[in-house]
Amino acid sequence: MKALILCGGHGTRLRPITHTMAKQLVPVANKPVLFYGLEAIRDAGIIDVGIVVGETRGEIVQAVGDGSKWGLKVTYIQQDEPLGLAHAVMVSEDFLGDDMFVVYLGDNLIKDGIKSLVDEFRTNNPNSQILLARVNEPERFGVAELANGKVVRLVEKPEKPASDLALVGVYMFDKNVMDAVKAIKPSWREELEITDAIQWLIDKGLTVDPHIINGWWKDTGRLDDMLEANRIMLDTLAPRVEGHIDGESEVLGKVVVEAGAEIINSTIRGPAIIGERTRIINSFVGPFTSIYYDVTIENSGIEHSIVLENSTIRDIPSRIEDSLIGQNVEVVRSPLKPTAYRFMLGDNSRVGIL
Ligand code: TTP
Repeated sequence: MKALILCGGHGTRLRPITHTMAKQLVPVANKPVLFYGLEAIRDAGIIDVGIVVGETRGEIVQAVGDGSKWGLKVTYIQQDEPLGLAHAVMVSEDFLGDDMFVVYLGDNLIKDGIKSLVDEFRTNNPNSQILLARVNEPERFGVAELANGKVVRLVEKPEKPASDLALVGVYMFDKNVMDAVKAIKPSWREELEITDAIQWLIDKGLTVDPHIINGWWKDTGRLDDMLEANRIMLDTLAPRVEGHIDGESEVLGKVVVEAGAEIINSTIRGPAIIGERTRIINSFVGPFTSIYYDVTIENSGIEHSIVLENSTIRDIPSRIEDSLIGQNVEVVRSPLKPTAYRFMLGDNSRVGIL
C-alpha cells in the first residue's frame, strides 16, 4: 500500500503567507503541518510515499528530503498546475501503479492519525473508502449522503446539504480511481474534483465505504483554522525547558522552552512553545501561542498567535492576539516624528489597528 500527500495548490486563503512559503510548512505548535501527516502515514504502517508538489517544490524537498527521518521512502511528483485533487492523482499514475493507496491532503491535521481507517480499508477491501466528519456548516464542504452503510452521493459545497457529513482530507482507493480521474471533466472552477471521481466510482457500481471519525481534525487552509489547530496541538505537548529562564520570569502551565531560548523578566502562560534561540524580554506570551526559532519579543504581549522564524516584535503597547506573523517580519513602535503608523505590507496583508 502507498500514500500520496498533496502539497501543490495555490493556498490563496492563507495569503500573504503563501506568497513566500508553502502552507504545508507553516508550523503548528512549532512543527510543520505536513510533518503531522507524515507521522500519521508512518504510524499507519505505510512506507512508500509520493508527495505531489507544485511551485513550492524546492522548500518541501528541503524540509522532507528522502523521508528517512520518518522511516519513509519519499518520491516527489511534479504537478505543473494545481488543476484539482483528482488531477494530482492522475499525474501520480506512474508512482501508484496498481497499488491501493491513501490520498492525504498536506494541509490537513487529523489528531488521532489514520491507522484505524487504513486498517479498515485493508480488511474490508472496498474500491474506495472516504473519511467523514460531522460538521456545523456542511455547505462549506464536500458532503456525503449514505444509504445502507455505503456512500451513495457526494456534493461539493451544496446549498441544501443532505447530511452533516463532510469529507475530511483523507481518501483511499484501489486502481479503479485512475479510470475515474481520466473520465471526469473539470468543474466550474476548472478543477478535476476528487468528489466527481468518487461519484464516478459510485455510478459505475463500485463500492465506496464511509468511515466516520469522532476525533478532532482540521483543514488548516485558513487563518482561523490554523490558529485552532495550533491551540489543539499545543495542548498535547509535554512541558519541557531546555532554554534559560531568569529569576525574574514566570512560566506557568504547559510550556516548552527549546534549547538556546531565553526568557528574561517575562511571563509565559501555557500552553505555549518558545523555539530555539528565541528571546522573550520584558514581555508576556499568553496561552495558545507558538513562537518559532530566532524570534525576538521585547516589551510586548502576545497570545493565541503563531510567529514564524526571524521575526521581531518590540515595544507594542497593546496585546497582539489571533495573529499569524510570517518570517522575517518586524512589528515595532515607530521612533520617527511626526507620530504616525508606518507600514510596508505585502499584497493581501491584513492589519488590525486599535
Ligand atoms: P486546497 O486547500 O483545497 O486548495 P489550495 O491549496 O489551492 O488552497 P486555496 O483554496 O486557499 O487556494 O488543497 C488541499 C491540499 O491539496 C493542499 O495541501 C494543496 C493540495 N493540492 C494539490 O496538491 N494540487 C491541487 O491541484 C490542489 C487544488 C490542491
